[in-house]
Amino acid sequence: MQQVKGVIARSKGAEVELVTINVPDPGPGEAVVAIQACGVCHTDLHYREGGIGDAYPYLLGHEAAGIVEAVGPEVRDLAPGDFVILNWRAVCGTCRSCRRGRPWYCFATFNATQKMTLEDGTELSPALGIGAFIEKTLVAAGQCTKVDPATRPAAAGLLGCGVMAGLGAALNTGNVGRGDSVAVIGCGGVGAAAIAGARLAGASRIIAVDLDDRKLETARTLGATHTVNSRNADAVTAIQALTDGNGADVVIDAVGAPETWKQAFYARDLAGTVVLVGVPTPSMQLEIPLLDVFGRGGSLKSSWYGDCLPSRDFPMLTDLYLQGRLPLDAFVSEEISLDEVEAAFTRMHHGDVLRSVVVL
Ligand SMILES: NC(=O)c1ccc[n+]([C@@H]2O[C@H](COP(=O)([O-])OP(=O)(O)OC[C@H]3O[C@@H](n4cnc5c(N)ncnc54)[C@H](O)[C@@H]3O)[C@@H](O)[C@H]2O)c1
Ligand SMILES: [Zn+2]
Ligand SMILES: [Zn+2]
Repeated sequence: MQQVKGVIARSKGAEVELVTINVPDPGPGEAVVAIQACGVCHTDLHYREGGIGDAYPYLLGHEAAGIVEAVGPEVRDLAPGDFVILNWRAVCGTCRSCRRGRPWYCFATFNATQKMTLEDGTELSPALGIGAFIEKTLVAAGQCTKVDPATRPAAAGLLGCGVMAGLGAALNTGNVGRGDSVAVIGCGGVGAAAIAGARLAGASRIIAVDLDDRKLETARTLGATHTVNSRNADAVTAIQALTDGNGADVVIDAVGAPETWKQAFYARDLAGTVVLVGVPTPSMQLEIPLLDVFGRGGSLKSSWYGDCLPSRDFPMLTDLYLQGRLPLDAFVSEEISLDEVEAAFTRMHHGDVLRSVVVL
């Protein structure tokens, strides 16, 4: 066991705290990873505000890269010194989805068995089974994906959640192809990554929609060919006007609210695809004429973690980054320290940043 510093949310809505945490030595199938960088994702704020569950105290942070410090018994393919991105969907290989050759949907993903605790022994709930606003964390070895150590840690870590979710929403779930028109509603870290993904896939028209002009400016640098501020314009009408009156082939909702999902639904072309990658809260409801669902055809999809397969996608995307084809650095708005997470939430809430990244 060792004692390190980490950031917790002790109770619903309370400001986060930097405290001492006990990290067990890795048991069978586990690894301890020294965190080098961890992005601040909107999902961490959802945890702090009680939008995800009630299992306080939460150990926040889940978008991270670091160096493996120690591995437990029965761990293969991972050794101290490996540079890894942590993933929150370690696939089991044996559930009904894995057995059918669709491991990116794995229905039985797993985490470390042992618990990290406060000094008084209180067990922590790690955000998304990771908990990475901490000097060293305990995870299941399957949550560690080795990538090229030449990758800047602050950029690599982003692939562990939001940027992967956005890239995958376009590349995997939306299956965007050459010549497609794509609209992305909400251009924070996730939506901006969906725009970068649409560009990587060869989309010819990429429309960014947000309420904040600063986000739209960044979206342009990442590949948006057109921007719509939906504070001043109707998003559906604007997207239709930019697609010859038809709507976009793929519309990605990276906000996750009934109004943005409806915009996505009506702003897509007939037989087009809607991808929901923003996460709704439990109280949100949707009402829509069923005839519109039938009459417009196409597909309505959700994107868990960008339907990524970490072992396939993380090394591929870091390679594209190192070749200069995926501008991950553009997502890193600022590097901060562990005691600045609360301030980073405020900046995120005000829309001042794409990603604040804790660097250790
Ligand atoms: N599906 C997944 O696996 C996955 C993974 C990571 C994050 N998420 C979720 O994705 C969502 C976005 O995360 P983020 O980190 O990019 O958040 P963020 O706060 O950085 O970005 C949200 C953006 O949406 C914009 N916005 C808000 N309301 C809007 C509206 N009505 N119309 C247009 N734009 C609007 C904001 O201005 C902001 O730019 C969150 O719900 C988060 O929980 C999902
Ligand atoms: Zn499985
Ligand atoms: Zn996240």
